[in-house]
Amino acid sequence: MPRPLRLGVLTGGGDCPGLNALIRGLVKRGVHEFGHEFVGIENGYMGLVEPDLTRPLTEEDTRGILPKGGTILGTSNKANPFQYAVLENGTWVEKDLSEVALHRAEELKLDGLIAVGGDGTLTIGHKLTEKGLRVVGCPKTIDNDLSGTDQTFGFDTARAICTEAIDRLHSTAESHDRVMVVEIMGRHAGFLTLDSGIAGGADVILIPEIPYRVESIVEKIHRRGSRKRSFSIIAVAEGAYPVGGTLAVLDQAGDIPGRGVVRLGGAGKVCADLLARHIPAEIRVTVLGHLQRGGSPSAADRLLATMYGCKVLDLVRDGQWDSMVALREGRIVTAPLSESRKERRVDPDGEPVRFAKSMGISFGD
Ligand code: F6P
Repeated sequence: MPRPLRLGVLTGGGDCPGLNALIRGLVKRGVHEFGHEFVGIENGYMGLVEPDLTRPLTEEDTRGILPKGGTILGTSNKANPFQYAVLENGTWVEKDLSEVALHRAEELKLDGLIAVGGDGTLTIGHKLTEKGLRVVGCPKTIDNDLSGTDQTFGFDTARAICTEAIDRLHSTAESHDRVMVVEIMGRHAGFLTLDSGIAGGADVILIPEIPYRVESIVEKIHRRGSRKRSFSIIAVAEGAYPVGGTLAVLDQAGDIPGRGVVRLGGAGKVCADLLARHIPAEIRVTVLGHLQRGGSPSAADRLLATMYGCKVLDLVRDGQWDSMVALREGRIVTAPLSESRKERRVDPDGEPVRFAKSMGISFGD
């Protein structure tokens, strides 16, 4: 029987539905089967650098959190101990405070750390293991863009929200004979847009992996018109862009220390403005934004997150530090933490895109 451990837990990066389900599964199995003790590190890696951002994480603390969105531990998508934003003489500068994080982990008497997050959080976890901290990871993101795993939790819920939004846009588009453009998250990966576009019956799906030509979309709208379909739904990934164009960026926050990554946004408006030059129909743009990340997780995400929370304790038990849990062909397996760094993209020649095209959905190419 392995000795009970004291384990830190943090959630980093953008939140997503299922984080609380994972925390609950982890703590329940950890306490019942191994007698582990858990320390909640608040606001992602910020809690390992700043003082007073930790809390005990008992079974009692996880009661009732299974259906709740967000994360009870809080999160941050800008706190990176290796490039930590510090205010010096009125100016923000980035400093390597990884030694502070290691020292804090020692002070907290942690036997290991469980980091739940996307590629940023898991990559930091990998770098901390190189410096001696024992870290295991659980992948999460609504974008589903991590190569180490077939699917991340949070994706299924977000996909359902986007699909419902496209469903709802249909009736109002049809009533007004409008072209409805709906902008969907996913950063540089088109998985959310592709899946919800197909599931919601979008007429045009624009993803970052296939730069679009506006003429091709216009043709599709005209073809629909000739079949007496006087409305169209266009699902646009926030990372989509026209051939010869550039990414639509909301602000360059990523260039300012401590402000996180560059924020994407506006791809829907770019597409609508381009289209407006070619078609007489009224065009409206809906940006789903953070609605896609909020609310209660789907049954599939609760299940996957709970399985991840339980499975990650096998990695701890077996001393498989510097690893993460992953879903491969329906089974929860182990993958190196470093694999999270490889970004996954929609295959433009893969079956979902080919079948969608074969049904007449346009990708604007
Ligand atoms: O990575 C998840 C995600 O929701 C992306 O799809 C999106 O581009 C980004 O986070 C939004 O980040 P923020 O919450 O910082 O606006």
